[in-house]
Amino acid sequence: MNPTYPYPFIDRILITPEEIETRVRFLGKKITEDYRDSEQLLLLGLLRGSVVFITDLMRHINRPITMDFMSVSSYAGAQTSGFVRIDSDHKTNIYGWDVILIDDIVDSGLTLHTVRKLLLDRKPRTLRTCALLDKTEKHQIDIPLDYFGFQIPDEFVVGYGLDIDEKGRNLPYIASVSLEKYRSVIKN
Ligand code: PRP
Repeated sequence: MNPTYPYPFIDRILITPEEIETRVRFLGKKITEDYRDSEQLLLLGLLRGSVVFITDLMRHINRPITMDFMSVSSYAGAQTSGFVRIDSDHKTNIYGWDVILIDDIVDSGLTLHTVRKLLLDRKPRTLRTCALLDKTEKHQIDIPLDYFGFQIPDEFVVGYGLDIDEKGRNLPYIASVSLEKYRSVIKN
């Protein structure tokens, strides 16, 4: 039986809620171990896509943490503009902190690359990167990804924080989008 999707443009489920939960739990445990000696650990999420991921992940990190966000954007619909705009900056002074920069997905790698460079100039004690999804074959820039959830093929995906034109963030799974169906939906 086909599941009923709340959006007509969903093609199929790629990663189930159970698979996400297991992997996020694993990442939380790994981060807990890696930062057992850290005094100041900051989870720095990129709005808005990382919100669901970071709020789940933080509950599996058994260490004192601080959470902060930056708002950046580079996409309109399914296309990257190739330019990363910083819409609002983080509030914490990260000098001397152990920072984990967290995003929902690495696609071209431009966003993480740009923000990482900016943060390094602010002299954190350490800086690592973490993304739930990684589209390895789409990378245009070589970026170090220290923690990742899943490597996925080059398909447009929504759910668990990820969107297409702000739709689909609320889905509890990662689903692929039929761009053909999506275009016919927005035309009508
Ligand atoms: C998306 C996503 C990543 C970025 C990845 O952000 O959340 O931040 O694109 O793409 P890249 O590796 O090609 O740079 P978007 O600008 O769509 O904003 P959002 O987080 O609000 O969805």
